[in-house]
Amino acid sequence: MQSFELLSQKFSLFFEKRHFPSEPETLYQPNEYFLSLGGKRIRPVLCLMGNELFDDIREDAWHAATAMELFHNFTLIHDDIMDKAPLRRGMPTIHSKYGENTAILAGDVMLVAAYEELSKIDLKFLKPILSLFNQTAREVCEGQQMDMDFEKKEEVVFEEYVKMIELKTSVALAASLQKGAIIGGAGERNQQLIYAFGKKLGIAFQIQDDYLDVFGDAGKVGKQTGGDILANKKTFLLIHAMEKASPELKKELKQLMSSDLPDKVEKVTRIFKECKADEWAQELKNKYLNEAMQHLDDIAVLSKRKEPLRELAHFLVNREH
Ligand code: IPE
Ligand code: IPE
Ligand code: MG
Ligand code: MG
Ligand code: MG
Repeated sequence: MQSFELLSQKFSLFFEKRHFPSEPETLYQPNEYFLSLGGKRIRPVLCLMGNELFDDIREDAWHAATAMELFHNFTLIHDDIMDKAPLRRGMPTIHSKYGENTAILAGDVMLVAAYEELSKIDLKFLKPILSLFNQTAREVCEGQQMDMDFEKKEEVVFEEYVKMIELKTSVALAASLQKGAIIGGAGERNQQLIYAFGKKLGIAFQIQDDYLDVFGDAGKVGKQTGGDILANKKTFLLIHAMEKASPELKKELKQLMSSDLPDKVEKVTRIFKECKADEWAQELKNKYLNEAMQHLDDIAVLSKRKEPLRELAHFLVNREH
């Protein structure tokens, strides 16, 4: 069994090559730029670990892992347009550096590259993997649309928020694990369990992402602090604050959210703190992490084999970037 650290190093080496042709440079250079910014490479590592939980890693898992990382980067390029995000991984986003039109096409062609990588997978695994990939891609679009629809809604209930983050984020982690499991020869039940593990873990992962957006160290997170507040995102922080705030504070929060005051981020952050939304994040993350771990426990393989996944799960919910 290989540790999280070792597998992510191996994947990074494997992935560090040119992925696109040189011409037209105005299209492909932005993509090479974006991929060169790195990232945590979580989805491909989950894919490799999903395989190794059941059997030695096969070459097919590297293709599936690469496809997931390319798909993830495609979603980020388009997400940054939608979220009007100036920074990613500490550097300018594609649309802010090269313009929106280039970013749309760069994302599109990144998705095509993901499909090209999938097409290298052995025929005996291709059908279930392609079908899972397509289902996931559709769900991510659904989640992203819900995320944007929520920007315009004054109040969103917690259950709607969870549904939205399951779709935009969790399913990609869950599917990465399941693809690895398919390649590792896992049975139906174990595949369902590893998917369920990824789905709960993904919720905890997005909770941490939403927390870091406001309370993270900007230098480490590499994104604009308070970007979610500026974009009126309905994160669990806002939902919790709306629920806990006194009537006066709630009124202030609502007014602030619909304003574009220069100190909007500062003021909203203060209200989040007053309502202890930052503390609540810890409880909420741990609740989903525990639920995830139960599914992992139920997978019918030796407990020792699950160690790298346990380690990765803890890293994901406690990370600082
Ligand atoms: C960011 O994902 C988008 C979310 C689903 C929250 P990551 O935090 O995995 O991004 P990188 O690839 O490490 O930059
Ligand atoms: C993005 O969620 C989810 C996808 C890209 C599908 P966020 O919008 O919260 O991700 P960041 O914070 O920009 O990385
Ligand atoms: Mg975003
Ligand atoms: Mg977004
Ligand atoms: Mg975010």
